[in-house]
Amino acid sequence: MRILSGIQPSGKLHLGNYFGMMKPALELQQKGEAFLFIANYHALTTVMDGKLLKSATMDVALDFLACGLDPERTCFFRQSDVPEVTELAWLLSVVTPMGLLERCVSYKDKIAQGISANHGLFAYPVLMAADILAYQSNLVPVGRDQKQHVEVARDIAIKFNNQFGKQVFTIPEPSIRDAVAVVPGIDGQKMSKSYNNHLEIFGDEKETRARIMRIVTDSKGLNDPKDPDTCNVFALYRLFASEAEQKAMADRYRAPGFGYSEGKKALFEKIWGYFEPFRKKRAELQNNIGYVESVLQKSAERARAEARKTLKIAREVTGLD
Ligand code: TRP
Repeated sequence: MRILSGIQPSGKLHLGNYFGMMKPALELQQKGEAFLFIANYHALTTVMDGKLLKSATMDVALDFLACGLDPERTCFFRQSDVPEVTELAWLLSVVTPMGLLERCVSYKDKIAQGISANHGLFAYPVLMAADILAYQSNLVPVGRDQKQHVEVARDIAIKFNNQFGKQVFTIPEPSIRDAVAVVPGIDGQKMSKSYNNHLEIFGDEKETRARIMRIVTDSKGLNDPKDPDTCNVFALYRLFASEAEQKAMADRYRAPGFGYSEGKKALFEKIWGYFEPFRKKRAELQNNIGYVESVLQKSAERARAEARKTLKIAREVTGLD
């Protein structure tokens, strides 16, 4: 079974991204043949600054490799290193009804946010279909916001196969990653960069500590019994702590003599310690960009061989070849 997903380079990762997207993506390597790519062609629909796109793309590569992506198990590449997908996107676009794209919520949302409409933004789901179909993917794990795009890819695949009378493409299935863990931000709302309530996974030590000390709590005093289950500090702590540590911390919440600042210090130590090995690995990789580049290119060759096979058939059935 081939599992494929793409990640848009979108800057510094925070704990919400880590638990919501990265950890599940890393777990894919245990489940089947995983293909994971950095969707830089897609990012180009909104990031039109060459330097920025390039560094954000490399950051995703460093982040994933540092956090445990095993390039021997996961084919991990840059979308743009397989330019065949853009050709395939054209072949798919001729069987894609306008209405199908006009109904895409994500496009409408972006326009509503004030992003100016360009053709790339509109055709985004067709390129995404090409990503999925080029590699004959069976399963596509995505966040809920991308489910409709995977459904569009299915519709396009079915239409193309019917139109040209051959099973050129495997029909993919979406697999929706529902939030396995609620990750509150420092103000208690869902963690998100747009609320500026996030904690970066590779943030600066002082800054991370300061942000943790600002986590919003109720105003109970040192000796008041506290409820761990409604506390943002505890909600974050439990993401990193073992069952026994969670229980010990919960007991301290309920006993006198425990203040929130103590809980916050414990949380900082936990988070800082958890990412310590990843931070080290990232620094090593940063000093060895040549290695990172070689990993991406080796994977891209493998992905490219797959995409070429698909494209060859697609070119034949359409009469280009
Ligand atoms: N659009 C996806 C996102 O923003 C990224 C992506 C691009 C993708 N191509 C893909 C995801 C193909 C899954 C399959 O998150």
